[in-house]
Amino acid sequence: MTDRPSYYVTTPIYYVNDVPHIGHAYTTLASDVLARFKRLDGYDVMFLTGTDEHGQKVEKSAEKAGIDPQAFCDKVSARFRDLAEAMNFSNDQFIRTTEDRHKKAVQHLWNRLVDKGYIYEDKYAGWYSVRDEAFYAEDELAQGNNGKKLAPTGAPVEWVEEPSFFFKLSAFQDRLVEYYDANPDFVLPKSRLNEVRSFASGGLQDLSISRTTFSWGVPVPDVPGHIMYVWIDALANYLTALGYPDEENPDYSKFWPADLHMVGKDILRFHAVYWPAFLMAADMPLPKRIFAHGWWTNEGQKISKSLGNVIDPFELIDTFGLDAVRFFLLREVPFGNDGDFSRNSFVQRCNADLANGIGNLAQRTLSMIHKNCDGALPDFSELTSEDNELLNLPKVTLEKIRELMDRQAFNLAFDEIWRIVSAADGYISREEPWALKKTDIERMKTVLFVLADTIRQIGILMQPIMPDSADKLLNQLGVAERTFTQLGEAGRLKPGTSINKPQGVFPRLELVEEASA
Ligand code: ME8
Ligand code: MG
Repeated sequence: MTDRPSYYVTTPIYYVNDVPHIGHAYTTLASDVLARFKRLDGYDVMFLTGTDEHGQKVEKSAEKAGIDPQAFCDKVSARFRDLAEAMNFSNDQFIRTTEDRHKKAVQHLWNRLVDKGYIYEDKYAGWYSVRDEAFYAEDELAQGNNGKKLAPTGAPVEWVEEPSFFFKLSAFQDRLVEYYDANPDFVLPKSRLNEVRSFASGGLQDLSISRTTFSWGVPVPDVPGHIMYVWIDALANYLTALGYPDEENPDYSKFWPADLHMVGKDILRFHAVYWPAFLMAADMPLPKRIFAHGWWTNEGQKISKSLGNVIDPFELIDTFGLDAVRFFLLREVPFGNDGDFSRNSFVQRCNADLANGIGNLAQRTLSMIHKNCDGALPDFSELTSEDNELLNLPKVTLEKIRELMDRQAFNLAFDEIWRIVSAADGYISREEPWALKKTDIERMKTVLFVLADTIRQIGILMQPIMPDSADKLLNQLGVAERTFTQLGEAGRLKPGTSINKPQGVFPRLELVEEASA
């Protein structure tokens, strides 16, 4: 084992009732960018994603598909793995809640809560939404058009009455509120912390955590007829992946508590109220942060299967290329806010920042080198203060990016990288290497060298967001070492390295409407 710092980032595990869409891709992408960033910054990283395979919703979907639930889960879960591959996610594990290791872990957690005296048997009588897999109190419900009650999410609810085990959530109300107040970064963005705080301080009811009217779930230990509520099952996945209940497992000692649970705002309550309460009850450390990001709509409309406007990430990748998709999703919308997806903004944004931005800078510079310096990186002579300023800018910028990444401000972090691109563009315009070619060849070489080394550093910084494109760029420059320690003088390019005729890395995109199925 090394004594490098550790970083554990998780995504929600996705229900297998649905095929993967852009929303799922988004959460995992954000986590992937952080995981890649931390690895390049010297951390040992554990990056976990996976699928949530139990519960009534999945059972019903399997029934509807006419196949047995396990076969159904195998099939849909595989699609989420395909997505991870297509999106070039660097997850270290892909967990499935139907795995044996997981059933053991969650049963162990259950027994621990029983031993601590926080679980009791009673009867549940109240509202349940299968779509949300959530219990709702009467006063949370609204009246739908057809006279039927609706959850705050708009999902239908049904009345449920059955024997059930309960978790003493009410016992944790004060501790939770104190915890939020003492740890203002526990939930980000801040507005989400306020939301959770007011929910908790408004009064917490004990939580029903077992079901008896269907069977697709993890059995409650030693109590026939009860299966666990899918959320206690699902949340425990974050522990299972580290080898829990074996607390001596090196992954467990190294990575728990998690640094970040990345989630969408729809599942904030489960992560920021129920999960910390379960962990408090089990006497275990709490995750350091829950980030609840915003919601994508499609050209102004809610994305839903029934509206038929689900954005298919596989199609987007085929049409526009993977790295454009990765870039757009995190660049377009301040992370935490809701965002509207439009193909028009997609094309405009990628052309402005990629094709005309970094792409043009790299292509111009490398072509000039290829043409005017015998196909090799030129040597440089004396460096001016302006040269040094540009050469040092990426390393200085890394400090800012680090801070921004540590609060999941992806779009601002990217802005910092693009500030370097603009600085390099400004430098070209001022230095005019094409004019120097006629007046001062030595100076031209120095200017081209400075530009090439700046592009190298931009390439290094770009790796987390656009790994393939960054690789292509760095390959063209013959760069071998690519971690953040190579920024600045440490990794400076070697004059004489041969440069092939450059291939554009960021193609211009054309607006292509989605072919209707
Ligand atoms: O809730 N915009 O799974 P789920 C942005 N199994 N993000 C979106 C989105 C959209 N339109 N649609 C979905 C579950 N997401 C549980 C989680 S965790 C222990 C268990 C993303 O399949 C977002 O991350 O309903 C959201 O939180 C998640 O998908 C919900 O996925
Ligand atoms: Mg959902």
